[in-house]
Amino acid sequence: MELKIALLKGDGIGPEIVDSAVAVLEKTAEKFGHRFIFTPYLIGGCAIDETSLPLPQETVDGCLASDSVILGAVGGPKWDGLAGDIRPEKALLGIRSAMGLFTNLRPAKLYPALRSASPLKDEIVGDGFDLLIVRELTGGIYFGERGYREGRYGTEAFDTEAYSVTEIERIGKVAFEAAMKRSKRICSIDKANVLESSRLWRKTMHELAEKYPDVEYRDMFVDNAAMQLVRDPKQFDVIVTSNMFGDILSDEASQITGSIGMLASASLGASKRGLYEPIHGSAPDIAGKNMANPIATILSGAMMLRYSFGLTAEAGTIEKAVDKVLDQGLRTADLMGSSLDTPLSCTAMTEAILKAI
Ligand code: NAD
Ligand code: IPM
Ligand code: MN
Repeated sequence: MELKIALLKGDGIGPEIVDSAVAVLEKTAEKFGHRFIFTPYLIGGCAIDETSLPLPQETVDGCLASDSVILGAVGGPKWDGLAGDIRPEKALLGIRSAMGLFTNLRPAKLYPALRSASPLKDEIVGDGFDLLIVRELTGGIYFGERGYREGRYGTEAFDTEAYSVTEIERIGKVAFEAAMKRSKRICSIDKANVLESSRLWRKTMHELAEKYPDVEYRDMFVDNAAMQLVRDPKQFDVIVTSNMFGDILSDEASQITGSIGMLASASLGASKRGLYEPIHGSAPDIAGKNMANPIATILSGAMMLRYSFGLTAEAGTIEKAVDKVLDQGLRTADLMGSSLDTPLSCTAMTEAILKAI
């Protein structure tokens, strides 16, 4: 196959980890006789520096003209003082929205080899956990009305959480379909004891649940869910939740797998074209030090092969290579805790994965 892939490297560790994913994708293409044509576009802080806009039109057009997109991360202290509408992070919301990517799949599983990297005790982890967070990605408080107004105590800022039945139904369907292919268990997470938008979310999910009688459905309040994730992660299989709750819970879920540097994601919409990115950010504290764990981005590349291109064997090859290096005990610094061994650099980990392909 010949496929066009847009690269949005972004800021901080973004370029380092995207380069790793590209090397792995190139090696995989070579092995299976495909041709991937990579084209870089600016996004985030680096785009602001060059064009004064976080999301230049050329980037949007380039992504829409590609078969799929790989993104590193955006943002950093350099741009933190900018107004909300021209911040690097706004570009991420912009590209997700422009591409119609209302679904964000964030799988979180514990690799047996990484058990000691998880902060959870052995008796909690048992034989491991494997969950899928289905995060709504183009609605909710990220996209609601926001601004400043005069309030009871003077000028105040506000952000609005709003969800329509249509938005809830379409993400719900994705989650129920995913549950049908997994262990047929789904937990919808909301704050329906307080928020009107969550009450509509819950009502809509209940109606959907009736159409999937084979799926064991339950609801949970988000505060309890944050606690339950560390108390007993094995109780979860598919989690479906709103944009903001999914953002927060997925960082939490990542750490119990050993590191945020492990978690990949797929952002999907109605077409095959998706955007694939690690769930973590630009990690300014380690940027430019060749220390980042590239695995989340490499596994995002594997998700791209599977979800956008249907290249299942190719995706499996990358995933197996990651399994293999972890089984060999190879670790970047984030996975090592207080160990005194020397960690692998980002490029050394990438080399090890390339060798295992
Ligand atoms: P972060 O995820 O960038 O970093 C949190 C911590 O995790 C840091 O200590 C970092 O070093 C570590 N970390 C993250 N990824 C790692 C990796 N691959 N390997 C090893 N360690 C890793 O979150 P933050 O510090 O809250 O945010 C930094 C910047 O990134 C902010 O500007 C934020 O807005 C942005 N951000 C962007 C995205 C994105 O582009 N998708 C996601 C989250 C945060
Ligand atoms: C993520 C990030 C983004 C989000 C930010 C940077 C806009 O935290 O992808 O998880 O909140 O969606
Ligand atoms: Mn996040």
